[in-house]
Amino acid sequence: MRLFADQIARALAQASGLAESELKIELPRDPAHGDLAFPCFLVAKALRKPPPAVAAELAGKLAIEGIEVKALGPYLNFRIDRGVLARAVLAEIQAQGAQYGSAAIGAGKTVVIDFSSPNIAKPMHVGHIRSTILGATLRRLFAFLGYRVVGINHIGDWGAQFGGLVVAIRRWKNEVDLERDPVQGLLELYQRSKKASEEDPQFESEARAAYQELESGKDGEVRALWRWVTEVSLRGFDKTYARLGIEHDLVRGESFYEPFLEPTIRRAEQAGVTEVSQGALVVALGGIDKSLAETPCLLRQSNGTTLYATRDLAGLFHRWDEFHFERCLYVVGGEQKLHFRQLKAVLKRMQLDWEPRVEHIDFGLLLGPGRVKLASRKGEVLVLDDLIDEVVEEAARILGEKQAAMEPAERLPEARLAEVAEAVGIGALCFNDQKRERIKDVLFDKAEILSFEGDTGPYLQYTHARFTRILAKAASAGEGGGTPDYALLAEAGPILLHFARFPDVVRSSAERCEPSELAQYLLGLCRELNNWYREHRVLGQDAALSASRLALVRASKTVLSNGLRLLGLRAPEQM
Ligand code: ARG
Repeated sequence: MRLFADQIARALAQASGLAESELKIELPRDPAHGDLAFPCFLVAKALRKPPPAVAAELAGKLAIEGIEVKALGPYLNFRIDRGVLARAVLAEIQAQGAQYGSAAIGAGKTVVIDFSSPNIAKPMHVGHIRSTILGATLRRLFAFLGYRVVGINHIGDWGAQFGGLVVAIRRWKNEVDLERDPVQGLLELYQRSKKASEEDPQFESEARAAYQELESGKDGEVRALWRWVTEVSLRGFDKTYARLGIEHDLVRGESFYEPFLEPTIRRAEQAGVTEVSQGALVVALGGIDKSLAETPCLLRQSNGTTLYATRDLAGLFHRWDEFHFERCLYVVGGEQKLHFRQLKAVLKRMQLDWEPRVEHIDFGLLLGPGRVKLASRKGEVLVLDDLIDEVVEEAARILGEKQAAMEPAERLPEARLAEVAEAVGIGALCFNDQKRERIKDVLFDKAEILSFEGDTGPYLQYTHARFTRILAKAASAGEGGGTPDYALLAEAGPILLHFARFPDVVRSSAERCEPSELAQYLLGLCRELNNWYREHRVLGQDAALSASRLALVRASKTVLSNGLRLLGLRAPEQM
């Protein structure tokens, strides 16, 4: 609504003598009151008059073409003429196309987003899906607003467990199949090494020696094996990312920060915030936050090894030094809340003024029916690829049924069915993860998330395809050549208002790191669109009416496809 809000603010500034930047135009609490509102409290204070008197006075003075002004108590309410609204909004959407909703507010600023960040030597499991999906959306949203975005995959590729894995490879590599499915083979070895570490002291001491060699930086057999594990795992992750349409700007695992660990520890020591406790080097945090008194941040264990936190702290300094970020977001589940509170408390103790720019963007769990953790059929951790396969197969089945019920001419070509099923299945998963506030748990119910009529990704995709179809039909019937009469679009007021709000919603979703705001917006828009389409025919009307309605349909397609793209959903033209 910026277009109109700015226009109103300008007129108000003139009428009141106050600066335009001080005049905040809002959405009215009750849409029945108007499209935009202005609370007169601040102006009244400046003019030393009661707010309702000021509202009445300003209403008398304001004359804005195409916008009706009414005073109601201390408020001014504005209603935009529907023809004026339609003309302005549709023109803007048409002019900006795939860029509609974008902005330049981020120019010159950098946002770092740490997301997905799975651990090597295991297949990516469902525990990483939410970070992957939410993080990728934030990356697209901030980029759309003109920020320089640095999406970092902070792979878990370091830690004592890799000592054990190396020893397991040494001992048992011939007992598993590392050729056909290396990630699965590694997982087996990894699990076996965990067990052996607990049960066999000989294994455990060999594992410790291997990790020490890894940490020493020596480029020998241990490092070569570790490197191989990393490469194999990354290749596996990349396949999943490609399927989900996800990219990172940098892949920097925990090991990347190895050379910066000692300098980081020195930085903390020089700031005078470290102390030795039971042989370990720690930063006490109780002075910053009482609830952290019992949980200092451990930087180095008594045996000399560093920790997850040390590597994250090194990463933070590295990111700050390199990017001077506006925001540094960690899209990581709620289980790591304590860890990020500790990191931020360390920065605070070091009196680094950029500490508030570091944010833990946490989120709820992904749960299966009955609110239990999603697991594989055998009760093991569910591999993400298996979950995707399952949903895509079901999408293919549903699409097949729908196709069979259609007129042959309307059906998708056989060759495209698999591609559309992939788009719909993945769309269902992605949308389900984003439709509610991120802090809430997500329930995964295959039938529900794939429903074409519910609050789902497929419902949005289907609406998009439906409107695309109208355009195709109009083109083949040679319709839509007339001149639109925008006043006729008064019938679509709620849709036009939705369109006008899209840029505001994109911006707010990014700033609050809340993709659900955009998701809910798109659901609301689709409901309005389908309501309208039920009541109004587009084709076969007189020229001006057809042209006007087609302009609305065209804009719908643009806004929907921009919104879907930002949320990481594909928008098939037909389904
Ligand atoms: N690898 C970690 C895990 O799987 C997540 C890492 C999140 N990012 C970070 N900088 N700590 O739990």
